[in-house]
Amino acid sequence: MAKIGTDLSRFILEEERKYPNATGSLSLALLAIENATKIIASHIKMAGLIDILGKTGKTNIQGEEVQKLDEFSNQLLIEHLGESGQFFACASEELDDVIYFEHGKDAKYVIAFDPLDGSSNIDVNVSVGTIFSIHKKIEGNENDFLQEGYKQVAAGYIVYGSSVMFVYTTGNGVNGFTLDPSVGMFLLSHPDIKIPKKGKIYSINETNYPKWEEGLRKYIDTLKEEGYTSRYIGSMVADVHRTLLKGGIFAYPADSKNKSGKLRLLYEASPMAFIIEQAGGKATTGKEDILKIKPETLHQRVPVFLGSEEDINRLLSFL
Ligand code: AHG
Ligand code: MN
Ligand code: MN
Ligand code: MN
Repeated sequence: MAKIGTDLSRFILEEERKYPNATGSLSLALLAIENATKIIASHIKMAGLIDILGKTGKTNIQGEEVQKLDEFSNQLLIEHLGESGQFFACASEELDDVIYFEHGKDAKYVIAFDPLDGSSNIDVNVSVGTIFSIHKKIEGNENDFLQEGYKQVAAGYIVYGSSVMFVYTTGNGVNGFTLDPSVGMFLLSHPDIKIPKKGKIYSINETNYPKWEEGLRKYIDTLKEEGYTSRYIGSMVADVHRTLLKGGIFAYPADSKNKSGKLRLLYEASPMAFIIEQAGGKATTGKEDILKIKPETLHQRVPVFLGSEEDINRLLSFL
């Protein structure tokens, strides 16, 4: 196992060496993400001082008001990932359609991302994040983004919190790196993360309680009786990060108004499901495993329940 303190760039290259047939392309792809997100991190840290807080005045394809940092992060990722030459195309929560990269014609991968997760928390200095999901390029068109989650080659998130962390998987366990701001490097701080089998925290936007199905209401009532505690930040990255480390359950369910919930399959549900399962947890819509869903459209939404194995199994017995 890699040593604590190993820097992310070196870790990525060392991982690659374990696969004699690897071409180095995935490593370069991950390094491009690392570099782009370091720049995003440094801008977020300055957000209160430079003019990048607040709304742009535009509305995105999701029907949401676009924040300046949503737009900044989206543009930065498009430019960096495009220039890296390692991606054929990208899809983003903030883009109507797929972008095909000029310098990626021979590239092996496509990437879907949520450039800035937790928009509503930007202006109040609460943790936000970036989420990414990489698939192989197969057909060279939009269908490459509509592959099942279990076919992801890599997925990860960056949480811009009290410290900045880069957490990712290539299907071989989950590793977490913390940014050392003095040298500008992500250093291995959380090797081979395993989610506890059972937790004591539930994380859900409870204002939707009256709109949930009966089984879910009973389940949450039961957790309360048993002394679970409630934590809900409202940034998926931060809520999932806590769930990964401490266990319990994170949920954004369907309700009577939002029949598929809120979270997007490609940019949020699927990459987080891959990470949670690689750490030994479970991720489901309540009806099926998130990673087994064959996406139908780029921006489709799905109900999300993820977390500790025992907590998710218990939830399923209520639904
Ligand atoms: P985004 O900022 O990328 O649009 O995502 C927002 C999401 C997610 O981060 C969070 O889990 C959820 O919205 C919170 O929604 P509610 O405010 O409805 O609880
Ligand atoms: Mn959004
Ligand atoms: Mn999001
Ligand atoms: Mn977002």
